[in-house]
Amino acid sequence: MSAAPVNGVPQTQAKSNLGESRYRAAFEQEESPMHQPSRHACRLPRQAAFCFTSCAALLSLGAARAADPAPPAATPQAVVDSMEAVFGPNAGKRRNHTKGLCAEGRFTTAPGAARYSRSLLFSGQPVPVQARFSLAGGRASAPDAARSPRGLALQFRLPGGALHQMAMLNVPVFSSAMPQSFFERLDADRPDPTTGKPDLARQKAVAERFTDNKALAAWMSQHRPPPSFANASYHGLHAFRFVNAQDQARWVKWHFVPRDGEKELSEDEIKAAPADFLAKALAERLQHGPVAWDMVLTLGEPGDPVNDPTRPWPAGRTEVTVGTLQVEHAGGSACEAINFDPLVLSDGVQAPPDDPVLAFRSPAYAVSWARRRAEAAQGQAASGQAPVGDAAKAASPRGEAATTKAVTR
Ligand code: HEM
Repeated sequence: MSAAPVNGVPQTQAKSNLGESRYRAAFEQEESPMHQPSRHACRLPRQAAFCFTSCAALLSLGAARAADPAPPAATPQAVVDSMEAVFGPNAGKRRNHTKGLCAEGRFTTAPGAARYSRSLLFSGQPVPVQARFSLAGGRASAPDAARSPRGLALQFRLPGGALHQMAMLNVPVFSSAMPQSFFERLDADRPDPTTGKPDLARQKAVAERFTDNKALAAWMSQHRPPPSFANASYHGLHAFRFVNAQDQARWVKWHFVPRDGEKELSEDEIKAAPADFLAKALAERLQHGPVAWDMVLTLGEPGDPVNDPTRPWPAGRTEVTVGTLQVEHAGGSACEAINFDPLVLSDGVQAPPDDPVLAFRSPAYAVSWARRRAEAAQGQAASGQAPVGDAAKAASPRGEAATTKAVTR
Protein backbone atom coordinates (compact mmCIF):
# COMPACT_ATOMS: atom_id res chain seq x y z
CA MET A 1 0.00 0.00 0.00
CA SER A 2 1.41 3.41 -0.87
CA ALA A 3 0.12 6.84 0.07
CA ALA A 4 0.74 9.99 -1.97
CA PRO A 5 4.42 10.37 -2.76
CA VAL A 6 6.52 13.16 -1.24
CA ASN A 7 9.07 14.44 -3.71
CA GLY A 8 8.37 11.28 -5.61
CA VAL A 9 9.07 9.04 -2.60
CA PRO A 10 6.16 6.86 -1.45
CA GLN A 11 4.95 7.63 2.08
CA THR A 12 4.35 4.03 2.95
CA GLN A 13 5.88 0.80 1.82
CA ALA A 14 4.68 -2.75 1.92
CA LYS A 15 5.82 -4.48 5.11
CA SER A 16 8.87 -6.66 4.60
CA ASN A 17 8.21 -10.34 4.29
CA LEU A 18 9.88 -11.79 7.34
CA GLY A 19 9.39 -15.27 6.08
CA GLU A 20 11.12 -14.87 2.74
CA SER A 21 14.36 -16.55 3.80
CA ARG A 22 15.44 -18.78 6.63
CA TYR A 23 18.67 -17.63 8.13
CA ARG A 24 20.01 -16.63 11.47
CA ALA A 25 22.88 -14.30 12.33
CA ALA A 26 26.28 -15.89 12.44
CA PHE A 27 28.31 -13.88 14.82
CA GLU A 28 29.49 -14.19 18.36
CA GLN A 29 27.34 -13.36 21.27
CA GLU A 30 28.45 -12.07 24.62
CA GLU A 31 27.79 -14.29 27.54
CA SER A 32 25.05 -13.27 29.85
CA PRO A 33 26.03 -13.04 33.51
CA MET A 34 23.35 -15.64 34.14
CA HIS A 35 24.41 -18.42 31.84
CA GLN A 36 26.92 -19.59 29.28
CA PRO A 37 25.12 -19.44 25.97
CA SER A 38 25.70 -22.10 23.41
CA ARG A 39 28.01 -21.09 20.60
CA HIS A 40 26.35 -22.42 17.54
CA ALA A 41 26.82 -20.72 14.24
CA CYS A 42 23.48 -19.07 13.87
CA ARG A 43 22.81 -16.56 16.66
CA LEU A 44 22.26 -12.86 16.81
CA PRO A 45 24.38 -11.08 19.39
CA ARG A 46 22.56 -10.60 22.59
CA GLN A 47 23.76 -7.00 22.47
CA ALA A 48 21.68 -6.42 19.38
CA ALA A 49 18.53 -7.20 21.28
CA PHE A 50 16.86 -6.16 24.53
CA CYS A 51 13.93 -6.64 27.13
CA PHE A 52 12.02 -7.06 30.55
CA THR A 53 9.10 -8.49 32.84
CA SER A 54 7.73 -8.64 36.34
CA CYS A 55 7.73 -11.97 38.16
CA ALA A 56 4.02 -12.24 37.64
CA ALA A 57 4.33 -11.57 33.96
CA LEU A 58 7.18 -14.07 33.69
CA LEU A 59 5.08 -16.73 35.33
CA SER A 60 2.12 -16.03 33.11
CA LEU A 61 4.40 -16.06 30.07
CA GLY A 62 5.71 -19.48 31.09
CA ALA A 63 2.21 -20.77 31.69
CA ALA A 64 1.07 -19.45 28.33
CA ARG A 65 3.97 -21.24 26.64
CA ALA A 66 3.16 -24.56 28.28
CA ALA A 67 -0.46 -24.37 27.25
CA ASP A 68 -0.09 -22.66 23.92
CA PRO A 69 2.93 -22.75 21.64
CA ALA A 70 1.95 -19.39 20.10
CA PRO A 71 4.71 -16.91 20.96
CA PRO A 72 3.79 -14.01 23.22
CA ALA A 73 3.21 -10.66 21.59
CA ALA A 74 5.96 -8.07 21.74
CA THR A 75 5.03 -5.27 24.08
CA PRO A 76 7.44 -2.67 25.45
CA GLN A 77 7.05 -4.14 28.94
CA ALA A 78 7.61 -7.71 27.72
CA VAL A 79 10.72 -6.69 25.78
CA VAL A 80 12.21 -4.93 28.79
CA ASP A 81 11.24 -7.90 30.98
CA SER A 82 13.16 -10.16 28.63
CA MET A 83 16.18 -7.87 28.81
CA GLU A 84 16.10 -8.23 32.57
CA ALA A 85 15.71 -12.00 32.34
CA VAL A 86 18.55 -12.39 29.83
CA PHE A 87 21.06 -9.87 31.18
CA GLY A 88 20.07 -9.55 34.82
CA PRO A 89 17.98 -6.88 36.53
CA ASN A 90 20.47 -3.97 36.14
CA ALA A 91 18.77 -2.03 38.94
CA GLY A 92 19.14 1.71 38.44
CA LYS A 93 20.70 1.22 35.00
CA ARG A 94 19.62 1.11 31.38
CA ARG A 95 18.22 -2.30 30.44
CA ASN A 96 19.94 -2.05 27.10
CA HIS A 97 23.17 -0.27 26.19
CA THR A 98 23.90 -0.60 29.89
CA LYS A 99 27.63 0.06 29.65
CA GLY A 100 28.39 3.55 28.45
CA LEU A 101 29.73 6.98 29.23
CA CYS A 102 28.47 10.54 29.06
CA ALA A 103 30.01 13.26 26.91
CA GLU A 104 29.29 16.86 25.98
CA GLY A 105 29.90 19.00 22.97
CA ARG A 106 28.17 21.05 20.34
CA PHE A 107 26.72 20.82 16.86
CA THR A 108 27.29 23.37 14.12
CA THR A 109 25.36 23.70 10.88
CA ALA A 110 26.97 23.27 7.49
CA PRO A 111 26.22 25.89 4.81
CA GLY A 112 23.10 24.99 2.85
CA ALA A 113 21.67 22.58 5.44
CA ALA A 114 18.50 24.67 5.86
CA ARG A 115 17.68 23.80 2.26
CA TYR A 116 16.72 20.34 3.51
CA SER A 117 15.10 21.05 6.88
CA ARG A 118 13.77 24.02 8.79
CA SER A 119 14.78 22.32 12.06
CA LEU A 120 16.53 24.67 14.46
CA LEU A 121 19.28 22.08 14.42
CA PHE A 122 20.29 23.76 11.17
CA SER A 123 19.64 27.39 12.14
CA GLY A 124 23.33 28.25 12.00
CA GLN A 125 23.64 28.81 15.74
CA PRO A 126 25.87 26.38 17.65
CA VAL A 127 23.72 23.84 19.50
CA PRO A 128 24.85 22.37 22.86
CA VAL A 129 24.80 18.57 22.86
CA GLN A 130 24.61 16.02 25.65
CA ALA A 131 25.89 12.68 24.37
CA ARG A 132 26.25 9.11 25.56
CA PHE A 133 28.49 6.46 24.00
CA SER A 134 27.59 2.86 24.74
CA LEU A 135 27.89 -0.84 23.98
CA ALA A 136 24.71 -2.54 22.83
CA GLY A 137 23.29 -5.13 25.19
CA GLY A 138 22.38 -5.24 28.82
CA ARG A 139 25.66 -6.33 30.32
CA ALA A 140 27.14 -3.63 32.54
CA SER A 141 30.47 -5.47 32.57
CA ALA A 142 30.62 -6.26 28.84
CA PRO A 143 34.21 -6.25 27.59
CA ASP A 144 34.97 -3.19 25.48
CA ALA A 145 36.17 -5.47 22.66
CA ALA A 146 32.80 -7.28 22.54
CA ARG A 147 31.61 -8.05 19.02
CA SER A 148 28.47 -6.03 19.43
CA PRO A 149 27.26 -2.71 18.05
CA ARG A 150 28.44 0.54 19.63
CA GLY A 151 25.90 3.29 20.29
CA LEU A 152 25.89 7.06 20.20
CA ALA A 153 22.92 8.92 21.66
CA LEU A 154 22.60 12.68 21.28
CA GLN A 155 20.36 15.27 22.89
CA PHE A 156 20.51 18.66 21.15
CA ARG A 157 19.29 21.70 23.10
CA LEU A 158 18.00 23.91 20.31
CA PRO A 159 17.81 27.72 20.31
CA GLY A 160 14.74 28.54 22.44
CA GLY A 161 15.16 25.40 24.55
CA ALA A 162 13.39 22.70 22.53
CA LEU A 163 15.06 19.30 22.33
CA HIS A 164 15.96 17.05 19.42
CA GLN A 165 17.30 13.54 20.02
CA MET A 166 19.00 10.71 18.17
CA ALA A 167 20.14 7.24 19.26
CA MET A 168 22.37 5.60 16.65
CA LEU A 169 24.46 2.48 16.12
CA ASN A 170 27.80 1.93 14.38
CA VAL A 171 26.22 -0.58 12.00
CA PRO A 172 24.56 0.25 8.67
CA VAL A 173 21.42 -1.86 9.23
CA PHE A 174 19.39 -3.07 12.19
CA SER A 175 18.70 -6.65 13.26
CA SER A 176 14.93 -6.50 13.17
CA ALA A 177 12.23 -5.26 10.84
CA MET A 178 9.51 -5.77 13.43
CA PRO A 179 9.37 -5.61 17.23
CA GLN A 180 8.16 -9.22 17.23
CA SER A 181 11.34 -10.61 15.68
CA PHE A 182 13.47 -8.47 17.99
CA PHE A 183 11.51 -9.72 20.98
CA GLU A 184 11.44 -13.39 20.09
CA ARG A 185 15.16 -13.50 19.31
CA LEU A 186 15.94 -11.80 22.58
CA ASP A 187 13.49 -13.84 24.63
CA ALA A 188 14.89 -17.07 23.19
CA ASP A 189 18.09 -16.25 25.10
CA ARG A 190 16.20 -16.27 28.37
CA PRO A 191 17.68 -19.00 30.60
CA ASP A 192 15.44 -21.97 31.15
CA PRO A 193 14.68 -22.14 34.91
CA THR A 194 15.50 -25.85 35.04
CA THR A 195 18.84 -25.77 33.20
CA GLY A 196 19.94 -22.18 33.68
CA LYS A 197 20.64 -22.11 29.93
CA PRO A 198 18.63 -20.98 26.92
CA ASP A 199 16.38 -23.52 25.25
CA LEU A 200 18.30 -24.50 22.10
CA ALA A 201 15.22 -25.85 20.34
CA ARG A 202 13.41 -22.58 20.91
CA GLN A 203 16.39 -20.59 19.66
CA LYS A 204 16.50 -22.73 16.55
CA ALA A 205 12.78 -22.31 15.91
CA VAL A 206 13.05 -18.54 16.28
CA ALA A 207 16.09 -18.47 13.98
CA GLU A 208 14.11 -20.32 11.36
CA ARG A 209 11.04 -18.15 11.69
CA PHE A 210 12.78 -14.77 11.54
CA THR A 211 15.44 -14.00 9.00
CA ASP A 212 15.36 -10.22 9.02
CA ASN A 213 18.78 -10.15 10.72
CA LYS A 214 20.50 -11.44 7.60
CA ALA A 215 21.94 -8.11 6.43
CA LEU A 216 23.26 -7.21 9.88
CA ALA A 217 24.72 -10.68 10.37
CA ALA A 218 26.55 -10.41 7.05
CA TRP A 219 27.95 -7.00 8.00
CA MET A 220 29.00 -8.13 11.48
CA SER A 221 30.81 -11.12 10.04
CA GLN A 222 32.96 -8.74 8.00
CA HIS A 223 33.70 -6.12 10.67
CA ARG A 224 35.36 -5.91 14.08
CA PRO A 225 34.78 -3.43 16.91
CA PRO A 226 36.52 -0.03 16.93
CA PRO A 227 39.52 0.78 19.18
CA SER A 228 37.80 4.01 20.23
CA PHE A 229 34.33 5.51 20.13
CA ALA A 230 36.08 8.25 18.14
CA ASN A 231 36.78 5.81 15.29
CA ALA A 232 33.23 4.71 14.50
CA SER A 233 30.54 6.00 12.17
CA TYR A 234 27.10 6.13 13.78
CA HIS A 235 23.94 5.50 11.74
CA GLY A 236 20.40 6.71 12.40
CA LEU A 237 19.19 3.61 10.47
CA HIS A 238 15.57 4.75 10.18
CA ALA A 239 14.37 7.03 7.40
CA PHE A 240 13.11 10.48 8.40
CA ARG A 241 11.20 13.06 6.42
CA PHE A 242 12.99 16.40 6.23
CA VAL A 243 10.74 19.42 5.64
CA ASN A 244 12.15 22.85 4.82
CA ALA A 245 10.76 26.35 5.34
CA GLN A 246 8.96 26.18 2.00
CA ASP A 247 7.21 22.95 3.13
CA GLN A 248 9.20 20.93 0.60
CA ALA A 249 9.77 17.44 1.95
CA ARG A 250 12.07 14.54 1.18
CA TRP A 251 13.10 11.27 2.80
CA VAL A 252 16.59 11.04 4.20
CA LYS A 253 18.73 8.81 6.37
CA TRP A 254 21.65 10.19 8.37
CA HIS A 255 24.95 8.98 9.67
CA PHE A 256 27.82 10.62 11.52
CA VAL A 257 31.26 10.16 9.95
CA PRO A 258 34.31 10.44 12.23
CA ARG A 259 36.95 12.95 11.16
CA ASP A 260 39.46 10.73 12.97
CA GLY A 261 38.59 7.99 10.48
CA GLU A 262 36.98 4.59 10.96
CA LYS A 263 39.22 1.97 12.55
CA GLU A 264 38.77 -1.63 13.66
CA LEU A 265 40.64 -3.73 16.20
CA SER A 266 42.62 -6.62 14.75
CA GLU A 267 41.82 -10.16 15.92
CA ASP A 268 45.01 -10.12 18.00
CA GLU A 269 44.05 -6.79 19.55
CA ILE A 270 40.63 -8.15 20.44
CA LYS A 271 42.21 -11.12 22.21
CA ALA A 272 44.69 -8.93 24.10
CA ALA A 273 42.29 -6.09 24.94
CA PRO A 274 41.56 -5.33 28.59
CA ALA A 275 37.92 -5.37 29.70
CA ASP A 276 37.78 -1.57 29.81
CA PHE A 277 39.65 0.66 27.39
CA LEU A 278 37.04 2.76 25.56
CA ALA A 279 36.62 5.45 28.24
CA LYS A 280 40.40 5.84 28.55
CA ALA A 281 40.89 5.96 24.77
CA LEU A 282 38.32 8.73 24.45
CA ALA A 283 39.73 10.71 27.39
CA GLU A 284 43.25 10.49 25.95
CA ARG A 285 42.04 11.52 22.52
CA LEU A 286 40.19 14.53 23.98
CA GLN A 287 43.42 15.82 25.52
CA HIS A 288 44.42 16.72 21.95
CA GLY A 289 41.20 18.62 21.21
CA PRO A 290 37.56 17.97 20.32
CA VAL A 291 36.57 14.84 18.41
CA ALA A 292 34.45 15.65 15.36
CA TRP A 293 31.90 13.80 13.26
CA ASP A 294 30.22 15.17 10.14
CA MET A 295 26.48 14.60 9.92
CA VAL A 296 25.84 13.23 6.44
CA LEU A 297 22.39 12.92 4.89
CA THR A 298 21.66 10.24 2.32
CA LEU A 299 18.90 11.52 0.05
CA GLY A 300 16.20 8.97 -0.66
CA GLU A 301 14.82 8.29 -4.10
CA PRO A 302 11.44 6.93 -5.16
CA GLY A 303 10.98 3.37 -3.99
CA ASP A 304 13.59 3.50 -1.22
CA PRO A 305 12.10 1.79 1.83
CA VAL A 306 11.22 4.23 4.59
CA ASN A 307 9.70 1.86 7.14
CA ASP A 308 12.33 -0.82 7.68
CA PRO A 309 15.77 -0.29 9.30
CA THR A 310 16.98 -3.72 8.12
CA ARG A 311 16.89 -2.61 4.47
CA PRO A 312 19.72 -0.33 3.36
CA TRP A 313 19.13 2.04 0.50
CA PRO A 314 20.92 1.26 -2.75
CA ALA A 315 24.52 2.45 -3.10
CA GLY A 316 25.09 5.64 -5.04
CA ARG A 317 22.44 7.80 -3.42
CA THR A 318 23.41 11.49 -3.16
CA GLU A 319 25.00 12.41 0.17
CA VAL A 320 25.25 15.90 1.68
CA THR A 321 26.96 17.12 4.84
CA VAL A 322 24.58 19.17 6.96
CA GLY A 323 26.59 19.78 10.12
CA THR A 324 29.39 18.78 12.43
CA LEU A 325 29.27 17.33 15.93
CA GLN A 326 32.18 18.17 18.18
CA VAL A 327 32.59 16.21 21.41
CA GLU A 328 34.63 18.27 23.83
CA HIS A 329 34.42 16.49 27.21
CA ALA A 330 33.67 12.97 28.37
CA GLY A 331 32.71 11.56 31.74
CA GLY A 332 30.38 12.60 34.53
CA SER A 333 26.76 11.60 35.00
CA ALA A 334 24.86 14.34 33.15
CA CYS A 335 23.44 11.84 30.64
CA GLU A 336 22.25 9.31 33.18
CA ALA A 337 18.80 10.80 33.72
CA ILE A 338 18.16 11.26 30.02
CA ASN A 339 15.78 9.08 28.05
CA PHE A 340 17.25 9.33 24.54
CA ASP A 341 13.88 8.61 22.97
CA PRO A 342 14.46 8.74 19.19
CA LEU A 343 11.02 10.21 18.60
CA VAL A 344 11.92 13.47 20.32
CA LEU A 345 12.26 15.42 17.09
CA SER A 346 12.16 19.09 16.18
CA ASP A 347 9.86 20.74 13.68
CA GLY A 348 11.30 20.04 10.23
CA VAL A 349 12.22 16.40 10.96
CA GLN A 350 9.39 13.87 10.91
CA ALA A 351 9.22 10.18 11.72
CA PRO A 352 7.77 7.85 9.08
CA PRO A 353 4.15 6.95 9.73
CA ASP A 354 4.69 3.21 9.54
CA ASP A 355 8.13 2.14 10.76
CA PRO A 356 7.11 -0.37 13.44
CA VAL A 357 10.56 -0.56 15.01
CA LEU A 358 10.93 3.19 15.42
CA ALA A 359 7.42 3.46 16.83
CA PHE A 360 8.15 0.67 19.31
CA ARG A 361 11.42 2.14 20.53
CA SER A 362 9.82 5.14 22.14
CA PRO A 363 7.61 3.25 24.64
CA ALA A 364 10.30 0.61 25.22
CA TYR A 365 12.81 3.30 26.20
CA ALA A 366 10.16 4.85 28.42
CA VAL A 367 9.70 1.56 30.28
CA SER A 368 13.44 1.15 30.80
CA TRP A 369 13.81 4.79 31.79
CA ALA A 370 10.92 4.65 34.27
CA ARG A 371 12.24 1.52 35.94
CA ARG A 372 15.81 2.71 36.22
CA ARG A 373 14.91 6.19 37.44
CA ALA A 374 12.52 4.81 40.06
CA GLU A 375 15.24 2.43 41.24
CA ALA A 376 17.84 5.22 41.26
CA ALA A 377 15.51 7.45 43.27
CA GLN A 378 14.84 4.62 45.74
CA GLY A 379 18.55 3.94 46.07
CA GLN A 380 19.32 7.60 46.62
CA ALA A 381 16.46 8.00 49.08
CA ALA A 382 17.80 5.04 51.05
CA SER A 383 21.25 6.64 51.17
CA GLY A 384 19.86 10.12 51.85
CA GLN A 385 21.32 11.66 48.65
CA ALA A 386 19.67 13.61 45.85
CA PRO A 387 19.07 11.47 42.72
CA VAL A 388 21.85 11.64 40.15
CA GLY A 389 20.86 13.87 37.23
CA ASP A 390 17.79 15.15 39.00
CA ALA A 391 16.49 16.64 35.80
CA ALA A 392 14.21 13.75 35.18
CA LYS A 393 11.33 15.82 33.86
CA ALA A 394 13.46 17.71 31.39
CA ALA A 395 15.33 14.51 30.66
CA SER A 396 12.24 12.67 29.56
CA PRO A 397 10.53 15.12 27.25
CA ARG A 398 8.12 12.45 26.01
CA GLY A 399 6.11 9.76 27.61
CA GLU A 400 5.96 11.12 31.14
CA ALA A 401 2.57 9.55 31.71
CA ALA A 402 3.59 6.35 30.00
CA THR A 403 6.68 6.02 32.13
CA THR A 404 4.82 6.68 35.35
CA LYS A 405 2.31 4.03 34.44
CA ALA A 406 4.95 1.59 33.30
CA VAL A 407 6.77 1.73 36.59
CA THR A 408 3.78 0.13 38.31
CA ARG A 409 4.32 -3.06 36.39
C1 HEM B 1 12.73 -2.98 18.67
C2 HEM B 1 13.84 -2.27 18.63
C3 HEM B 1 14.54 -1.68 19.83
C4 HEM B 1 14.26 -1.79 21.16
C5 HEM B 1 13.13 -2.58 21.81
C6 HEM B 1 15.24 -1.02 21.88
C7 HEM B 1 15.28 -0.88 23.25
C8 HEM B 1 16.16 -0.08 23.94
C9 HEM B 1 16.10 0.19 25.35
C10 HEM B 1 15.06 -0.38 26.32
C11 HEM B 1 17.12 1.01 25.65
C12 HEM B 1 17.46 1.59 27.03
C13 HEM B 1 16.75 2.95 27.16
C14 HEM B 1 16.98 3.64 28.49
O1 HEM B 1 16.98 3.01 29.55
O2 HEM B 1 17.13 4.90 28.47
C15 HEM B 1 17.84 1.27 24.43
C16 HEM B 1 18.95 2.04 24.31
C17 HEM B 1 19.56 2.35 23.12
N1 HEM B 1 19.17 1.98 21.86
FE1 HEM B 1 17.63 0.81 21.41
N2 HEM B 1 16.08 -0.43 20.98
C18 HEM B 1 15.69 -0.82 19.72
C19 HEM B 1 16.24 -0.42 18.52
C20 HEM B 1 17.31 0.43 18.39
C21 HEM B 1 17.80 0.94 17.15
C22 HEM B 1 17.20 0.62 15.76
C23 HEM B 1 18.84 1.75 17.44
C24 HEM B 1 19.69 2.57 16.51
C25 HEM B 1 19.21 3.11 15.40
C26 HEM B 1 19.02 1.75 18.88
C27 HEM B 1 19.98 2.44 19.58
C28 HEM B 1 20.03 2.54 20.95
C29 HEM B 1 21.03 3.31 21.66
C30 HEM B 1 22.20 4.09 21.05
C31 HEM B 1 20.72 3.19 23.01
C32 HEM B 1 21.47 3.83 24.18
C33 HEM B 1 20.81 5.16 24.51
C34 HEM B 1 21.46 5.77 25.71
O3 HEM B 1 22.70 5.87 25.72
O4 HEM B 1 20.73 6.17 26.62
N3 HEM B 1 18.06 0.95 19.42
N4 HEM B 1 17.22 0.59 23.42
